Amino acid sequence: MKYNFDTFIDRKTTDCEKYSNNLSVFGTNDILPLWIADMDFASADFIVDAITERAKHGVYGYACRCESFWKAAQFWIENQSGWKVDAKWMHFSPGVVAGVVFSILANSKEGEGVLLQPPVYHPFANIINHNNRKIVNNPLVKNIDGTYSIDFADFEEKAKLAKVFILCNPQNPTGKVYTKDELRKLGEICLKHNVVVISDEIHMDFVYEPAIHTHFATVDPRFMDITITVTAPSKSFNIAGLCTAYTIIPNAKLRENYLCEMSKIHCDNSNVFGTVALQAAYTPQGQEWMKEMNQYLISNIDLTIEFLEKNLPNIKCRKPEATFLLWLDFTNFGLAQDQLIEFLVKEAKLGLNDGRIYGEGGDGFMRINIGAPKQTIQLALDQLLEAAKKRGLA
Ligand SMILES: Cc1ncc(COP(=O)(O)O)c(C=O)c1O
Repeated sequence: MKYNFDTFIDRKTTDCEKYSNNLSVFGTNDILPLWIADMDFASADFIVDAITERAKHGVYGYACRCESFWKAAQFWIENQSGWKVDAKWMHFSPGVVAGVVFSILANSKEGEGVLLQPPVYHPFANIINHNNRKIVNNPLVKNIDGTYSIDFADFEEKAKLAKVFILCNPQNPTGKVYTKDELRKLGEICLKHNVVVISDEIHMDFVYEPAIHTHFATVDPRFMDITITVTAPSKSFNIAGLCTAYTIIPNAKLRENYLCEMSKIHCDNSNVFGTVALQAAYTPQGQEWMKEMNQYLISNIDLTIEFLEKNLPNIKCRKPEATFLLWLDFTNFGLAQDQLIEFLVKEAKLGLNDGRIYGEGGDGFMRINIGAPKQTIQLALDQLLEAAKKRGLA
């Protein structure tokens, strides 16, 4: 490996959510935080260098996104997946969730339905509620082997009640990668019932073989016309704090409506460092770094799953097809969710995400973030095992 992901970096003094908000989130600072979805690794050295160079300039006035910014984004998408994106389809968003919000506002009215497939990334439900839209759920179906599938008959019924569908692919928190066939079926139903698809593809760069990421919009030329893809380099290169994301909207009318919503709150200004970081990341060097990052993440996933199978077989975890998030099934512990959280926080001293926040299907589950050096993951697993032994759960 050319890059080193084993280095432990102390983040406690950096005002970051994962390390500085534990008291308010978990009621204690005495935990190992493996919750919010950023990684404990340094970003790539060539990104750090580019930001440092820009920082040395000293003038941080309003930035713009020049041609090179969009060329870098086009390069990345085409080289990762083969999708040739026209630069005029792309637009900036200060975040992926913000892009999803503008897309909801542009394509639905108050009181209208927004379709979700829980368990799913929790801010979606929050933004639907905050914007006075109605959540319409088509829950994913959990299979015995821990994989998730789609109830298409239910999806079609629910699509009749919705204006917009938020697709989360790759899926957080289950790690599911939607197959082309699944996407095709979903798309046909959305076309039939005039549902606009907001495809959140922020985790698109963390997809593990044999799974393949398919951009929803590319499955069928007709899907291009109903899709707003929202994505970013933020997860991939651990630069979420630089607030730089983008949308891909091939349909001119959808694009116009999106831009109109965005202009209402005047948030089109780029982050100076985010602009530089995207251009440094979306390069052949970035691809090489990403490949190694994924190898490291796969080894962390294997480490975790092998440890659980050997020492804590009561905790079930299926190998995710994507993401650096593992969806742990604690139902065999026989604890109510509040007791489970108390056990994890007070006894195992671990800060994980409560499965319930992801909606239906989340009770009994916790999400753990394995985007950290191996020593951190091993420490977490050892703490979990020791606490479980004391309780007679191992
Ligand atoms: C599916 C998904 N979408 C969006 C985000 C957040 O994106 P942003 O910080 O750019 O709003 C996350 C972060 O965990 C995520 O998992």
